[in-house]
Amino acid sequence: MERLIIEGGHRLYGEVNISGMKNSALPIIYACLLVKDECIIHNIPRVSDIYNSLEILRGLGADADFIERNTVRINTKNATATIKNQELVSKMRASSYLMGALFARFNEVCINMPGGCNFGVRPIEQHLKGFCCLGATCIEKDGKIEIKADKKLKSQKITLDKISVGATINMVLASIFIEGTTIIENCAIEPHVDDLICFLNKCGGKIIRKNRTILVNGANKLYGTDYTVFPDMIEALTYACFVGASNGEVLLNKVNVTHLRYSLDFFKSMGMHIKEYESKVHIKKSTVLNGVNVVTAPYPLFPTDLHPQLSALLCFTCDGGSVKDEIFPTRFAYVNELRKMGANITTIDNMAVIKPSYLFGARTDATDLRAGAALVTASLGAQGNSEISNVNYIIRGYECLVEKLTSIGGKIKLVNN
Ligand code: UD1
Repeated sequence: MERLIIEGGHRLYGEVNISGMKNSALPIIYACLLVKDECIIHNIPRVSDIYNSLEILRGLGADADFIERNTVRINTKNATATIKNQELVSKMRASSYLMGALFARFNEVCINMPGGCNFGVRPIEQHLKGFCCLGATCIEKDGKIEIKADKKLKSQKITLDKISVGATINMVLASIFIEGTTIIENCAIEPHVDDLICFLNKCGGKIIRKNRTILVNGANKLYGTDYTVFPDMIEALTYACFVGASNGEVLLNKVNVTHLRYSLDFFKSMGMHIKEYESKVHIKKSTVLNGVNVVTAPYPLFPTDLHPQLSALLCFTCDGGSVKDEIFPTRFAYVNELRKMGANITTIDNMAVIKPSYLFGARTDATDLRAGAALVTASLGAQGNSEISNVNYIIRGYECLVEKLTSIGGKIKLVNN
């Protein structure tokens, strides 16, 4: 069983290159199903969700593989609508993008219910509502979803009842070839949505986003292209938590500062020294960290994907703080694990209240990707050795975590016994 062993109390110091954003690389990989031509995509992080997605594409009959360290070549010319790797679909949330992509290309798709990190209910009724609005029939039966359209689709106005990254992306994919202008209202505007739109437009798509409304002007055909995925904002912000917990000073290279700005302001109010450059951020912990009270909400506000890591960091502040999660209100599995390390955290409804805590090394379990990142944050600042199991969750989202942390002075190793 793979575990991470971390010796706490070592100051992180140096420079780290931030990888491409997993959560936009994934929809872009699935969007290649809309292009019956070769696409070369750069800045793809080597993490397990990406490997699994490439395997799913190969199962459909596409050519899809890494050709360089962070570059993939995908050609879906020979792809069919039959998903061979349904068990992989059930393991990953991002596989839900197969619904939009295969529906747009073949007018039908039958898919296992997408899985993914388990931090509460993850419904897809907004996705299905959108497909139905476009004229599809959606049937959910025996853990499978079947979406199909028997007649030519017409452009429509879709208003999402809830801001959803997944539903927004699926609607953009599904409507790409529909004649006329499909209007999608109340959209998510996370950078991963814009990344996908930029990619599709580079392939010949005609998509315009105005605030929370996206206009998809039907394209006849998409063409192969070269594209570079945006930097991973959540990875960058997670490293900011690592720096705070380890009393460190690190320059984060290859970031998009605009995507980080709202969240970095919270780190500034905690007293951390932050200097922004064009595509870099320098982060240094101050002598004392102050607490903050944070509420997660759709972008451009504070991301739910940073909630657990920030809770861990708040343990090291002089006065504690709180994190209220308005997106995934039961995302608290990490709390019990942090308590094993001495964290003084209580939960009230959808809020974690964190008191200043003396953390010590312990054996913990990563219950999901960001929960795992919270345990790494806590372990870096804790006294003594920590052992984190269920490492596969962490590896699905953070490229070269051990190598990157080691390069800046972290004492971390991956063991397998
Ligand atoms: C994506 C990200 C995930 C991130 C989340 C929020 C990927 C693969 N996953 O997940 O890492 O944590 O965005 O930024 O990119 N909802 C509904 N009905 C729906 C769809 C969503 O009620 O049909 C609700 C959800 O329960 C949640 C909120 O809407 O409360 C946002 O969910 P959504 O943005 O869809 O998250 P995902 O796309 O699953």
